[in-house]
Amino acid sequence: MRRIFKDLAKGVFRSRLAVLGTILSVVTLPVLVVFTILDMQGVVSNPYFSFINYAVLGPLFIVGLVMLCIGLFTGKADEDIGLFAYEYIKEQLAKPGRISRVRRLLIMVTSLTLVTIFVVGLISYTSFHYTDSTSFCGQFCHSVMEPQFTTYQNSPHSRVACVACHFEQQGGWSAGTKLSGIRQIFAVVFNTYPRPIQAPATHLRPTRESCEQCHLPEKFHGEKLYVKDRYLADEQNSHIQTVLLMKVGSGGVYRGGQAHGIHWHVASENRLLYRSIDKSRKEISEVRLQKPDGSEVVYAAGDGKFAGGGELRVMDCVDCHNRPTHVFLSPEEALDRKMLAGVISVSLPFIKKIGLEAVKQPYATYDEARVGIDRYLRTWYGEHYPELLTKEKQRLEKASQGIFEAYRENVFPDMKVGWATYDSFLGHDGDAGCFRCHDGHHRTVDGVTITNDCDACHIVLAEGVPAGDIIHLLRKE
Ligand code: HEC
Ligand code: HEC
Ligand code: HEC
Ligand code: HEC
Ligand code: HEC
Repeated sequence: MRRIFKDLAKGVFRSRLAVLGTILSVVTLPVLVVFTILDMQGVVSNPYFSFINYAVLGPLFIVGLVMLCIGLFTGKADEDIGLFAYEYIKEQLAKPGRISRVRRLLIMVTSLTLVTIFVVGLISYTSFHYTDSTSFCGQFCHSVMEPQFTTYQNSPHSRVACVACHFEQQGGWSAGTKLSGIRQIFAVVFNTYPRPIQAPATHLRPTRESCEQCHLPEKFHGEKLYVKDRYLADEQNSHIQTVLLMKVGSGGVYRGGQAHGIHWHVASENRLLYRSIDKSRKEISEVRLQKPDGSEVVYAAGDGKFAGGGELRVMDCVDCHNRPTHVFLSPEEALDRKMLAGVISVSLPFIKKIGLEAVKQPYATYDEARVGIDRYLRTWYGEHYPELLTKEKQRLEKASQGIFEAYRENVFPDMKVGWATYDSFLGHDGDAGCFRCHDGHHRTVDGVTITNDCDACHIVLAEGVPAGDIIHLLRKE
């Protein structure tokens, strides 16, 4: 056995390629094994750590092995050195009495190969999973995914893996996804990706496999009270509330009830298709409702301004919930939330108004925004309420920080994501969202329109009433 190792070493030294390969493999192997174990145990949670392990060390190790094999096999055969070379093995087999030596050799080569296959297999398996991880998707391509990753972290789905909603599984093996992933990595390396990343996303999983794993629309039912908190841009930053009774409804038969209300659109007995003339799905030219009895109702955009063409799509969850996790707030909402949380003190006169002005200025970087917002506040309060600069110094500093945070959580200058880059389709801000169809202009040939009755989707119980009043209102006091 010792002889064989000695011969192997000699064989390696004959070939420069094999020497290089050996050094590469021998140096990377222990690091790789230790890193992989640490990573599987979840000891280190730095995304660069996993990336270096799976995308750099792993391939280096394998390249080393390949170099070693090629070097050995193509090396010149020689009586005492070329034990592993093809020519030598052929010659040995021809000689009588040499069979046992060759057998020993084969056993050794086989066991070495098995160990190698095990190590390579383990690495490939863990690295395959690594590329599915939230850390790889969200953090490694840090600057590219920053807007989506940050908003995701601030959303109700911050513990759901990116791949639970993205990337359809193709035949149980997501090879297609990985290929598209490789394309994306090239786009990052060669800096050819669009800024901002375009919505809507492609390759989303069918919602049966994603959303409906956790939310079953046939299990929603009835109506739900929504309370919206807002602050006015007046001196008191008046806190007001709007209360809606939302007809959440159900997407199926629930305890004997029919599909109804808002989730009626996704009931399995209906198929609702729509055609949009633009990629962003904002302009809808035609809506088709296919009923269980086989009949079809077609609503076309009224004035015939969009004739023909466009993608026909079956409506599903993300046609309304297009921002279930990448929730980009408007500047008003972002500040309202900080005020509700007490980060921005409502005791500072006009803070909502001035905060809004400050946060909407154009800034090229976060540093510029931090300094700019602070300067804007100081200048304004210096002119109008100079005593506050000293008396309310701390509150003002905290507010300035809070306004900057609101900016940083929603605006991403590097990726050219501003306050209004991504639209939400969940309500009817402007003409977007529900009013893409429910605008009173989509009608059948008989003149029936898709409803735009205010009470079809919700009942506005109170709009913009002073906060606190709603309790009296609901109690009929
Ligand atoms: C709960 C489901 C869900 C999770 C979890 C999720 N996404 Fe998304 N993502 C979506 C949906 C839905 C869209 C499509 C938006 C549209 O249609 O406009 C989207 C869109 C995107 C887009 C396109 C740009 C945009 O904002 O529309 C990117 C990039 C993206 N996601 C990255 C990520 C990354 C990175 C993660 C993990 C850190 C992640 N997503 C986790 C549901 C999800
Ligand atoms: C792995 C499970 C899981 C998946 C997949 C998932 N969700 Fe959720 N979702 C949750 C949980 C849990 C909550 C409640 C979180 C909370 O209240 O903090 C939630 C909350 C929500 C809410 C309420 C949000 C709010 O602001 O209160 C909506 C709407 C929603 N999900 C839609 C979706 C849609 C659309 C998809 C598919 C694109 C999806 N979810 C995929 C688990 C999931
Ligand atoms: C026609 C638009 C539309 C479609 C399609 C739709 N939803 Fe909703 N969904 C809404 C609206 C509107 C609300 C209530 C308003 C809000 O959450 O801000 C809501 C509320 C929800 C909630 C919160 C419910 C609660 O009781 O708190 C969940 C979860 C949800 N939807 C999941 C889904 C899933 C999963 C699908 C796909 C099977 C889906 N929705 C399809 C519009 C839609
Ligand atoms: C792609 C077009 C489209 C979009 C977008 C859309 N709807 Fe609809 N909706 C329809 C059609 C078609 C009907 C059936 C015709 C009707 O009832 O007028 C309908 C019916 C409804 C109904 C009545 C259901 C019942 O009980 O009969 C409600 C409630 C509703 N939609 C709410 C919403 C809400 C809320 C949104 C936005 C979050 C929305 N819709 C977005 C096409 C759409
Ligand atoms: C097709 C369904 C639909 C119709 C029709 C509709 N709304 Fe809404 N509306 C919504 C949804 C969904 C939201 C909630 C969005 C959210 O959760 O942020 C909403 C939110 C609102 C809000 C609260 C806005 C806020 O955030 O403070 C008001 C006020 C409102 N609607 C008034 C009206 C009035 C007035 C009409 C009639 C002209 C009307 N809506 C018609 C679906 C509808």
